[in-house]
Amino acid sequence: MSPDAGPTAVPGDPGDPGDPAPPEPILTLARSARRVTVLTGAGMSAESGVATFRDPLTGLWARFDPTDLATPQAWRADPGLVNAWYLWRVALVRRAQPHAGHQALAVWAARPGVDLRLVTQNVDDLHERAGSVVLAHLHGSLFAWRCDHCERPVPPPDPPTDAGERQRIDPTPCEHCRDGRRRPGVVWFGEPLPRTAFDDAVRACLEAELVLVVGTSGLVHPAASLPRLAAESGVPVVEIDPHPTALAATADHIWRAPAGTALPALVEALGPIESADLPR
Ligand SMILES: NC(=O)c1ccc[n+]([C@@H]2O[C@H](COP(=O)([O-])OP(=O)(O)OC[C@H]3O[C@@H](n4cnc5c(N)ncnc54)[C@H](O)[C@@H]3O)[C@@H](O)[C@H]2O)c1
Ligand SMILES: [Zn+2]
Repeated sequence: MSPDAGPTAVPGDPGDPGDPAPPEPILTLARSARRVTVLTGAGMSAESGVATFRDPLTGLWARFDPTDLATPQAWRADPGLVNAWYLWRVALVRRAQPHAGHQALAVWAARPGVDLRLVTQNVDDLHERAGSVVLAHLHGSLFAWRCDHCERPVPPPDPPTDAGERQRIDPTPCEHCRDGRRRPGVVWFGEPLPRTAFDDAVRACLEAELVLVVGTSGLVHPAASLPRLAAESGVPVVEIDPHPTALAATADHIWRAPAGTALPALVEALGPIESADLPR
């Protein structure tokens, strides 16, 4: 089966590739779970026009490997290049809009009796703009900058209007200390995850009755270890992703579909809120 053939569910229910309805085993789990933890990755934002790292980036930035830019070494070696790249991403995310999948998660979280906890690897704010509360931004945020010297929070610099075309933009000095420069509040490769966010995410995975993983390749650790942690403690794990990922061995059910189609279909299929089972 080609990954682009449409929504499918494996193993268990092969599903109908032309049918956007949720596979039955996934719907049954979603209906019965009161505590749902959703772990999202870059694929969640792809249909909003925010490219994943492993999609080819178009234009100027296609010449750079994003994973080379997202490191403390890159910041030290060429801060103007890294700053320009992040300002370009800030501008891109500001122009992007949440899609129906982001909105569906906010609707699901509002259902009576449902405790939906959202854990994201994304550094954008599309979940929040769709009305969700994010429990943990595991990799920080494009909108929470700090000083690279004194570590104090600083306002995010405003991207210049030509941020997309300029390859180097000198970082803005820190407003608190003499030696610092404003850096994006994202977790770069080689840096530790924010402690509280990761602890909250672990707890949310262990306490869940369903862990739903959406749009992550499962390659970036330690975030990628969360679904396995849930599975090892007996929590059912469902994956939604149009392409095969490293989670194949961990997930109990896999729905090969894009987030913007699958999540609205799933939440719609839960039925009207009046008919939802209330807490026992
Ligand atoms: N929007 C963002 O904030 C953003 C964007 C790019 C990268 N990142 C960062 O890069 C790292 C990359 O790891 P990752 O696993 O999140 O992303 P990844 O790029 O490694 O993997 C993306 C996954 O999304 C899937 N995907 C593509 N289109 C999809 C769609 N429409 N619906 C559902 N899934 C889809 C792909 O098949 C792939 O498995 C993370 O640390 C993340 O913080 C963030
Ligand atoms: Zn400072």
